[in-house]
Amino acid sequence: MPKTVLVSGGAGFIGSHVTVELTQAGYDVVIADNFSNCDETNYRGVCQILGKELPLVNMDFCDSEAVDALFDRFHIDAVIHFAAFKAVGESVAEPIKYYRNNLTSFINILDQARKRGCNVLFSSSATVYGEPEKSPVTEQTPRQPSTSPYGNTKQMCEDFLRDSVKAYPTVKGIALRYFNPIGAHPSALIGELPRGVPNNLVPFITQTAIGKRAQLKVFGSDYPTPDGTCLRDFIDIVDLAKAHVYAVRRMLDGKMEQPYEIFNIGTGTPLSVLELINTFEEVTGVKLNWEFAPRRAGDVTAIWADPSLANEKLGWKATRSAAETLKAAWAWECHLHELGL
Ligand code: WQD
Repeated sequence: MPKTVLVSGGAGFIGSHVTVELTQAGYDVVIADNFSNCDETNYRGVCQILGKELPLVNMDFCDSEAVDALFDRFHIDAVIHFAAFKAVGESVAEPIKYYRNNLTSFINILDQARKRGCNVLFSSSATVYGEPEKSPVTEQTPRQPSTSPYGNTKQMCEDFLRDSVKAYPTVKGIALRYFNPIGAHPSALIGELPRGVPNNLVPFITQTAIGKRAQLKVFGSDYPTPDGTCLRDFIDIVDLAKAHVYAVRRMLDGKMEQPYEIFNIGTGTPLSVLELINTFEEVTGVKLNWEFAPRRAGDVTAIWADPSLANEKLGWKATRSAAETLKAAWAWECHLHELGL
C-alpha cells in the first residue's frame, strides 16, 4: 500500500519539484495550496510530467478547520510543509503578516500530527545561520539571531518542531536547511515563477536574459571574497527535491536515529555571484546586461554547506553542476516566454 505524503504549498517552486520526485519514487501525493504566491502553471506542469492528475486542495493552512478537514479526508503518513511567505525584504516591511501566516500554518499542521500521529518534514533554510563566522557550516554551527522576520519564522518553526517532538510521542520530524535553490526541472515544464519583480538572483538573471528585465544589478563588488561578490551554495532544485524523498523514506522506514533531526541540503561548493553570471553566459551564449550596484541590506558575505551529514545519513548527494542547472533555468524561462508569461 503506497504511503501518502501531503505537500503543503505543493503548487510552488520547491513543492512542485518535490511532488514529481515523490510520485516517481512511488509515494501517493496530495497537494494543498492557497495559490497566494503562485498560479496553476507549475501544478499543470507536474501533471504533464507525471501523465496524471494529482489530488489538489485549494486551502489556507491558517484555517484550522480546513486543515482538520484535510486530514479527515486523506490518511496522511507524512507532511512536507512548504506553505509560507518567503520574501526576505517584504517580511521586514510586513512582520505581522509573516508571523501570522508562517507560524499559524505550521502550528495547525503540528496540531494534526499530535492528534493523529504523523511524520513532519519542515522546509527550513540556511538563513538560520545568519552571517556564520566561517563556512562550510555544519548542523552544529550556531544559529544567529535572524536579520529578518522571514528568517526568524524559520528558526521559530524549527523550535516548534523540536519541542513538539519532545512533548508528543506521536510526532517525529526532520528539518532540511536549504541553501540557495536554483534551476528548473529538465522537462522545462516546472520551475521558479516569482510573482512580480524577482528577489532572487537566478530568476532575475533569466528574466534579464529573455528581455523581461532591462538590467541585472549585482549588489556589491567590495566584499572580502576572491572577486568581491558574495559567495553562496547554489543547489539544483531537482537535487534538492530528491533530498526530500530520501528524508521521507528515512522517516517512514523507521530509520531515524533521533525523533528530531536536522540536515544541511547544499552542494558544499561555494560559487560567487559573478561566477554564476559567467557560467550562465557560457552555457546559454546569451550576453547578460548587468552592472554593479551598492550592497543589499541583509546580505551575508559568504555561506556554504558542509553536507556530509545528509550524504551519510540520508544517502543523498547533490549531483548536478551549476552549468546544467543554469541551462535548465534558461530552458524554463524560454518556455514561460512561449506561454506569454
Ligand atoms: C543571492 C546573491 C545577492 C539578486 C534568500 C533567502 C534564503 C532562500 C533563498 C528564500 C546575494 C545577489 C540577488 C539580484 C544580486 N530562501 N543578488 N542581484 O539572499 O542568498 O537567500 O533566498 O527564497 O532563505 O535568504 O538569495 O538569490 O536573493 O541572493 O546581486 O538581483 O545574489 O546580493 O549575494 P539569498 P538571493
